[in-house]
Amino acid sequence: MCGIVGYIGHREAYPIIIEGLKRLEYRGYDSAGIALFDGSDLKISKTKGKVADLENRSNETISTNGHIGIGHTRWATHGIPNDVNSHPHSSNTGELAIIHNGIIENYESLKKELISRGYTFQSDTDTEVLVNLIEDVKQKENVKLGKAVQIALNQVIGAYAIAVFDKSRPEEVVVARLGSPLAIGIGDNEFFIASDASPFIEYTKNAIYLEDEEMAIVRIGKDIKVRKIKDDSLVDPYIQELQINLEQIEKGGYDHFMLKEIHEQPKAITDTYRGRLLRNEALIKMAGIEDNLNKLLNANRIIIVACGTSWHAGLVAEYIFEDLARIPVEVEYASEFRYRNPVITENDVLIAISQSGETADTLAAIKLAKSKGAFVFGVCNVVGSSIARETHAGAYTHAGPEIGVASTKAFTTQVTVLTLMALRLAKAKGSISNSDFHRHLLELELIPQHVENVLKSDSHIKSIANTYKHSNNCLYLGRGYNFPVALEGALKLKEISYIHAEGYPAAEMKHGPIALIDENMPIVVIATKKGHYEKVVSNIQEIKSRKGKIIAIVTQGDTTVKALADHVIEVPETLEALSPLLNTIPLQLLSYHIAVLLGKNVDQPRNLAKSVTVE
Ligand code: F6R
Repeated sequence: MCGIVGYIGHREAYPIIIEGLKRLEYRGYDSAGIALFDGSDLKISKTKGKVADLENRSNETISTNGHIGIGHTRWATHGIPNDVNSHPHSSNTGELAIIHNGIIENYESLKKELISRGYTFQSDTDTEVLVNLIEDVKQKENVKLGKAVQIALNQVIGAYAIAVFDKSRPEEVVVARLGSPLAIGIGDNEFFIASDASPFIEYTKNAIYLEDEEMAIVRIGKDIKVRKIKDDSLVDPYIQELQINLEQIEKGGYDHFMLKEIHEQPKAITDTYRGRLLRNEALIKMAGIEDNLNKLLNANRIIIVACGTSWHAGLVAEYIFEDLARIPVEVEYASEFRYRNPVITENDVLIAISQSGETADTLAAIKLAKSKGAFVFGVCNVVGSSIARETHAGAYTHAGPEIGVASTKAFTTQVTVLTLMALRLAKAKGSISNSDFHRHLLELELIPQHVENVLKSDSHIKSIANTYKHSNNCLYLGRGYNFPVALEGALKLKEISYIHAEGYPAAEMKHGPIALIDENMPIVVIATKKGHYEKVVSNIQEIKSRKGKIIAIVTQGDTTVKALADHVIEVPETLEALSPLLNTIPLQLLSYHIAVLLGKNVDQPRNLAKSVTVE
């Protein structure tokens, strides 16, 4: 996690870095800092809190002029969030300043060694160790900054995206990456450095994404030279043309990014299937699949790895792949899979799902599966992300930038891509009839319109949120395809409102959670038609006889559940396999409204970050 930004060029660096940090706050927001060089002096300002707090502090404490600078927004790993642990960190001489996203795992042994040679440390961070290690190498070896960074990084174990500035070489910034993302925006005799392209999107559309184990010296008046950290060999950098624009990363009139992104789902889902779902030709075409069709069809099994909300999308996919394509599927938390010594063979296919494409555990699971010979397919949102590059093939979700920390449109677009994949494979295997295939295509095309209809229940959902906003606990129940939706609904509520919530398969309720039910317990039940409807109705009866408060998601026109539930939220009828795409929407809105009514920061919930680049 953590966001890094740097600028070197002819403009004032301060406003570019501050605005860039605000755009990267989704990556962490417990402290922030900036280092600026004004031509003679290196000024550092940093504080616990958000970028807005940094702005207040900087305006009071430093002059903010200068054409070169680096900035950081932090998600704490080593050392609590406070002023001293905030980045940038400087070396003992005050000559060097560094910003860092990642973790230096062997920092303790390096620190001991540096202390034995007289170095002192102000903070508890691994980053302060790294900047002093670079300083130490620079002095001992009598080399310039670039070489010192390279030698130091070869002694480091861990992950990093770093930018380092040296007062004695004020025309350059040295950057490097291993395991954490780093983009360099190339303008007209100016350069931008950032964790992703959002901080510089209005200045340039040209960017280089460093690969793992690469470094670059970004120097005014010079072309960028990219080198391998290990052996110093030169790499020919690929200059990518960026596809995002400023409008996509702004709130567009909504109070929060999360609400904007919930409302973007009809368009996002359409963008996901556009050009892939060809109903008139009765075809699904996805480049990543067509090129690897045999591998996928001959897979012994599919293993899906992911974390959090993406893992829930994986669970939905398990039902769809098994149901339609008749391929055995296992869904794993990437963090467990990577350390479990799993049995993987060359006949396995691993599907890795990740919005950010940077999640450290998912990346590690991919590398493990590749090392055992499995074919790895990625489902990512962020174009050019580490996971997109690390996988053999893949499909982008095309959701557009997701800034709100709680995932919404990423989930529905992931489910859409996975549904397309399952249908494509089912068609190739012949495990779905032509008429069923056609019906799925037809219904999938109707989903965006159905989502629009569900979004019209917003004010009704807000009034339900108002009734239950002071609850301490909440249960979410669903069956079959909608069990993962229950998990996702509970996760959304916990993460933004801090109300304890649990998702369960509805039938499991009687094996334990039923003990929690009393007249104060709201229970959200997904009770749409098809898929075990009668059984879910029985579960609702059981809740009612224990006086639990029932909020039911039902199919339009339902009367049975309406008679039993305290509140119903209607969704249009669709195929069971597609129902998660609709049933998730009211749960997103419910969490959103509860959190807003409680005065919580929905876009930046406490302790969380959008991109989890540490394990
Ligand atoms: C929840 C949420 C997280 C992410 C998880 C995986 O709303 O956003 O649970 O889903 O951290 O992130 P990605 O999909 O970027 O790998």
